[in-house]
Amino acid sequence: MPDVARVSRHLPWREVAKDVDSLRPMLLEQVRHEDLRGQRVLDVGTGDGRLAFVAASVGARVIGVDLDRVKLMHARAYAGIRDFRNTEFVLGDVEKTPYHEFSRDPIDAVISNLCMSPEIIWHSSRALRPGGTFIFAAHHGDHWKETRRGSRFAFYEDSMRDLLEENRFAIEFIGVDTTVAEFEDLREVELFLRDATVRRWVEDGRWQELTDAFTRGERHLTLSYLIVKARRTTAPYTVE
Ligand SMILES: C[S@@+](CC[C@H](N)C(=O)[O-])C[C@H]1O[C@@H](n2cnc3c(N)ncnc32)[C@H](O)[C@@H]1O
Repeated sequence: MPDVARVSRHLPWREVAKDVDSLRPMLLEQVRHEDLRGQRVLDVGTGDGRLAFVAASVGARVIGVDLDRVKLMHARAYAGIRDFRNTEFVLGDVEKTPYHEFSRDPIDAVISNLCMSPEIIWHSSRALRPGGTFIFAAHHGDHWKETRRGSRFAFYEDSMRDLLEENRFAIEFIGVDTTVAEFEDLREVELFLRDATVRRWVEDGRWQELTDAFTRGERHLTLSYLIVKARRTTAPYTVE
């Protein structure tokens, strides 16, 4: 099992805001270092397809799946504009649907950015042949930790290792990419987060937790991501 690679930085929030929505370099590195030329790749929770386009640009034949019709429309439009012929975008629920229903060909790799759950790991394991690749970024358990609200879509290293092992994956890379954004006051947090996020946090109590943290002098927000590359082992499934 490889050691956890850690990248961590404290930055003024205006610096963090510049690339807060970008794909993490650690994830891009894992995707780009894998030889995906000619491979059939499934991007689960593809959104408007930005990770799918990264894989397509290194020669993969990508199917992006999402539940959101509008995002899929954007992905298809972008594929048309940029003339990406090796991408398809299909509507589907990646937590409920066996992945062979999304692809006529066997799937060589599953990739994902910020759409991860035990169900997705379960389906990915059943979809991939031995040796098949699984690369993803998920929220780390420390993401937004100042709001004291865990998410079912966030994972710590140990629970992710267990989940992957249970599902017949061998981890080749595991990394945590953490940025702590520093603020002077809550007004800056409002500028940093989008209005919709602030409204949601006010409604569900996270804003109050954050206010309490700022009152204690803890004027920061943690953004943290778990990045994994794993390979399907040869271990078969016996009794399901
Ligand atoms: C945080 S966004 C990430 C989108 C994209 N991977 C990116 O990096 O821009 C999560 C995406 O997962 C999709 N999603 C969530 N649950 C899903 C499910 N069960 N099946 C398919 N898509 C799902 C959402 O619609 C959304 O587009």
